[in-house]
Amino acid sequence: MEAILESANIDYETADCHPGLPIEKGPHGRGVGRWVPEEKHRYLKRYLDATREAQKKFKQRVLIDPFCGPGRIQVEGENFTREGGSVMAYQQSVHSGAPFTRVLVGDIDQERVRANELRLASVGAPVAAFTGPANETVDAMIKAVPFGALTLAYIDPYNLEHLSFSIIERLAKLEHVDFAVHFSLMDLTRNIDMELDPKRDRFDHALPGWRARVPTDALSKASLPGWFFTAWCNAVEALGFKVSGQMPLITDGKGRSIYRLVFFSRHPLPDRIWNDIARSRNLDLF
Ligand SMILES: C[S@@+](CC[C@H](N)C(=O)[O-])C[C@H]1O[C@@H](n2cnc3c(N)ncnc32)[C@H](O)[C@@H]1O
Repeated sequence: MEAILESANIDYETADCHPGLPIEKGPHGRGVGRWVPEEKHRYLKRYLDATREAQKKFKQRVLIDPFCGPGRIQVEGENFTREGGSVMAYQQSVHSGAPFTRVLVGDIDQERVRANELRLASVGAPVAAFTGPANETVDAMIKAVPFGALTLAYIDPYNLEHLSFSIIERLAKLEHVDFAVHFSLMDLTRNIDMELDPKRDRFDHALPGWRARVPTDALSKASLPGWFFTAWCNAVEALGFKVSGQMPLITDGKGRSIYRLVFFSRHPLPDRIWNDIARSRNLDLF
């Protein structure tokens, strides 16, 4: 397969077998930020590589990506496209010798999920595709997980509004499941103030009942986002998970925090491995 070598980070990208299909260009259509391949995807790659021996102990290894996009990304300012998250993750799992035995992808946009399915199939992935809001497709995805499988749930919505806590709660019922969640800090920081208005509900799915619990008397406006994020982590821990101490902060290059990558698991080993890889800022893999 044709490879485009990128001198900066000794990475490789395979050519797109479906160049006519949709490409992820970010919520504004200008291309995604460099942090998508350089941080978001790279942490996932490193995690998959570092856990390969543990993964091999499971006969069935499943990736669940309910906000999958089209499987191909265009980085702002680049004149070529790169693999999207699910395709990159599947290829990394093959490269590391512990290929996913099922890749379950979903998206609200039918064309995108179809594009992702075709791109995954073209690299040999055992893919099943689900069209619809993640909040609805997740039940069918859970049913498609074989008993006893090790599952990695990669939850990557554009904003907090779609990070429904119920998605996490339902996935948490799987016996062996780890989570890598892309938590939008920009949405939280910009909008939490407005969302205190009980007539609004954009964050109510992400953390049900949050508004009634905010200690508004004791908190300044500036500390509201931090309070919300901590309360969300506590809610995850109440499901029996350990939220990793290392939560890489993604910034937009202009000093603004845009996302945190939050990893959580029930088992100490994946938590330790995530902490090790996320602690290091040197993300070069190969
Ligand atoms: C950040 S992009 C996904 C990028 C992809 N995970 C990757 O790493 O290449 C978010 C995707 O979520 C989809 N989306 C938006 N709202 C959704 C919803 N409620 N349920 C499922 N997908 C949704 C969008 O169509 C978009 O493709």
